[in-house]
Amino acid sequence: MLAVQYARFGAAAEVAKLVEMPEPQTPGAGEALVQVERVAINPADLLRLEGRYGNNIAALPAFAGAEGVGRVVAVGPNVTRVKPGDRVLLHQYFAKIGIWRERLVMSAAALIVMPEADPSQLAMLSVNPATAFLMLTDFVTLRPGDWVVQNAANSAVGHWLVKLAGTMGLSLINVVRREEAAAELRAGGAIDVLVDGPDLADRIGAITEGKRPRLAIDAIGGEATQRLAASLAEGGTVVNYGLLSGEACRVAAHDTVFRDVALRGFWLQRWWIASNQGAIDGLYARLSSMVLSGALSVPVEAVYPLRQLKEALIHAGRPGRTGKIVMTVTA
Ligand SMILES: NC(=O)c1ccc[n+]([C@@H]2O[C@H](COP(=O)([O-])OP(=O)(O)OC[C@H]3O[C@@H](n4cnc5c(N)ncnc54)[C@H](OP(=O)(O)O)[C@@H]3O)[C@@H](O)[C@H]2O)c1
Repeated sequence: MLAVQYARFGAAAEVAKLVEMPEPQTPGAGEALVQVERVAINPADLLRLEGRYGNNIAALPAFAGAEGVGRVVAVGPNVTRVKPGDRVLLHQYFAKIGIWRERLVMSAAALIVMPEADPSQLAMLSVNPATAFLMLTDFVTLRPGDWVVQNAANSAVGHWLVKLAGTMGLSLINVVRREEAAAELRAGGAIDVLVDGPDLADRIGAITEGKRPRLAIDAIGGEATQRLAASLAEGGTVVNYGLLSGEACRVAAHDTVFRDVALRGFWLQRWWIASNQGAIDGLYARLSSMVLSGALSVPVEAVYPLRQLKEALIHAGRPGRTGKIVMTVTA
């Protein structure tokens, strides 16, 4: 059986290797054997391979891959939550091991059954859609018609925010760093799209006619955080969930002290730790039904077989993509 392993930290395409592994054991009590179907490549995977991901620096050698979708092949004694043939959501946090591999045995209690929807969309469901949904619901009480602003809006999380804000009746201002990305978002139906720049707050003020957003969603950090903070209404909240610039978030004292703008952080793993299984199941049932109905999907730029791991990782690290890179493990 093939799995993706790394024995040192470095550029993802250099350090991640396909290795031959023994087949997993027969599932024991409470466990399920899952055949992995499709997996997504996220910025967090690249950061983990580089040894730069939050407090989750792996002990080496380690197995790579955070999220995907698979199918239950067999279950051990006392398993009622899933049965053979069920399609299930996979995440490294629940599987306790990197999931870029052909098969794995894990606790059946942590498996969430998925509908028979597009496997690429399901492979991307556990992290980004949940992140987008919770950032819109858990920080600021919003009503239909309220303004929200986000940066890196052409990212996968950004696309989910566009779709989810639409279903919630929110007015979303989408900020990107280049004009081609703005054109792509507009073509996909986003209405207000701006290219980031020093006068961002003024341009947001003009769009909202002075009724400024109370929520800003920041994936970039550094000065980009400050440009969002300056665009908010008094008492507004910036939720930072990524550091794509590699720089710490900056917010001017003018905004924190005189305008009571707050900077908060969001990390999905903290939400999983704090939530019971009912809340987790409820969130993914809601999101997967939106994928099944076709209401929610995000662009995929390329699908590679797992055997083309190196090409897939190089492609995932390239700027200016128009969608996610996913890998097929078994068709
Ligand atoms: N906190 C959490 O729980 C959580 C959960 C999910 C994701 N995230 C984070 O969310 C971010 C987006 O993830 P994703 O999977 O949606 O990304 P993605 O689809 O792979 O897209 C990457 C995005 O980052 C932009 N970008 C890259 N470097 C940048 C820079 N230096 N300055 C500004 N923009 C830059 C790209 O813009 P171009 O198209 O112009 O290259 C693109 O919009 C990542 O930082 C990820 O780690 C956090």
